[in-house]
Amino acid sequence: MKVTVVGAGNVGATCADAVARWELANEVVLLDIKEGFAEGKALDIWQTSPINLFDTRPVGSTNDYSRTANSDVVVITSGLPRKPGMSRDDLIATNANIVKSVTEQVIKASPGAILIVVSNPLDVMTYCAYLTSQFPSQRVFGMAGILDTARYRAFLAEALNVSPKDIQAVLMGGHGDTMVPLPRYTTVGGIPVTELIGTDELNAIVERTKKGGGEIVNLLGTSAWYAPGTAAAQMVAAIVRDQKRVFPVCTWLQGEYGLKDVYLGAPVILGKGGVERVIELRLTGDEMTLVHDSAKAVREVMDVLDRMSVTTA
Ligand code: NAI
Ligand code: 2OP
Repeated sequence: MKVTVVGAGNVGATCADAVARWELANEVVLLDIKEGFAEGKALDIWQTSPINLFDTRPVGSTNDYSRTANSDVVVITSGLPRKPGMSRDDLIATNANIVKSVTEQVIKASPGAILIVVSNPLDVMTYCAYLTSQFPSQRVFGMAGILDTARYRAFLAEALNVSPKDIQAVLMGGHGDTMVPLPRYTTVGGIPVTELIGTDELNAIVERTKKGGGEIVNLLGTSAWYAPGTAAAQMVAAIVRDQKRVFPVCTWLQGEYGLKDVYLGAPVILGKGGVERVIELRLTGDEMTLVHDSAKAVREVMDVLDRMSVTTA
């Protein structure tokens, strides 16, 4: 197995580190446009191998896509992160050009790869990679839901003073303030969360989750990387080990939930074929309205992309 991570910044390096540490591939290639940067990060990760006891080989590359040839999975993290006061959508023009150019080069070197997009604005950058690659949608999807549910689960674990391992949750919608955590599908060791926490406290956690990215941007002056990079690596694991994990993933909807031609977070089964099935939950009317509102917000930014000249390879 060979995995490439494009963008050796905070998220990319964290993802490559987890891929190596979990031995998900024989080789993990880290590529960046900044001279020597990916090589330096790859060398540093390699020097943890005697401590963390792995033999996956990290390889760094300054924009040389021949080093990425025949990758099975490519994670795209290249692009600007958010700064305080910026929304994810503010990044669209800059990051769309980066994602388009990266995708063009990735697919030439690895025509059979599965693409996981992380760059923001996530749902629309995933759409950009899909349009550019013209790969089947099962092989082009985005990471957001694992991160957003991880935040939700961590907040709940803290509030309930239980292990985060025992909290299971589903979250739908776009990777932005319109995301839709679903308390009705949240359990704590199999117990519906609503039996363990009051409505006001639960609503406050849902609201904090929706703004979870911004909370970290305000604290750090840039966006998060430990949870995002590790979440992307968890998706790589599901694919390369054909685990059939059920994860919320930014996926191309084709009629599911009454939505068509939109990239949006929904629960899927992730395995060696990529998105092997989109799971359709029986949402209530109110939940469905929230998901459709979120899709509308994502579609507005997709329309911005459609009006830009970044649509095809
Ligand atoms: P960063 O600035 O630390 O790293 C980005 C890297 O991309 C830099 O090293 C830069 O040199 C590289 N890069 C830029 N243009 C490139 C190109 N054409 N080819 C190859 N490399 C290129 O940023 P960070 O924190 O790693 O974030 C990366 C992206 O991920 C941002 O767009 C951020 O908003 C997004 N993000 C998405 C999350 C999600 O849940 N989907 C969560 C956190 C971040
Ligand atoms: C995050 O949610 C900003 O998308 C980034 O941390």
